[in-house]
Amino acid sequence: MTDTPVSQDSTPEALLAQLDALMQPSEPLLTQLANAAAFLYWSMAEVNWLGFYLAEGDVLYLGPFHGKPACTLIPIGSGVCGTAAADGQTQHVDDVHSFPGHIACDAASNSEVVVPLFDAEQRVWGVLDVDSPRHARFSNEDVRFLEHAAELVQHRCIAAGGRIFPLDKTS
Ligand code: SME
Repeated sequence: MTDTPVSQDSTPEALLAQLDALMQPSEPLLTQLANAAAFLYWSMAEVNWLGFYLAEGDVLYLGPFHGKPACTLIPIGSGVCGTAAADGQTQHVDDVHSFPGHIACDAASNSEVVVPLFDAEQRVWGVLDVDSPRHARFSNEDVRFLEHAAELVQHRCIAAGGRIFPLDKTS
């Protein structure tokens, strides 16, 4: 196994380079997403949940993540994740309790960033969701970092044709 130490003192650029190297395009997309979730979780302080929700029809299904067990299904248009998927826009929420329809998977979460991921046809393929127990935890710089991380993930999704396994026959 590759030893990939994660340092929260690293620069965003160094972390993104590590993330890029960690996601091996020759490996199944599910494998890449799993390590991306773990890597990003450990790269940020004061984060209690970080992971992917993957779009299927009108629904986002829980994908690889780090944190407590979470809601398995979110209708597109509902909550912070569903809003990011419906609008195709990053959601930067300083206080989740004031977000209409917020879905509380982990009661400890108080702020959240959700970045949509797009496929080759610019349809939403999924979202990257990050939660913190601290209100207003995420700066604009953090959001830019997460958007760049999501872009790297998105490139791998497109390269894999959206299939989470090479033998996935569903698409
Ligand atoms: N809070 C999210 C639900 C997912 S959990 O945070 C893991 C939302 O409102 O969409």
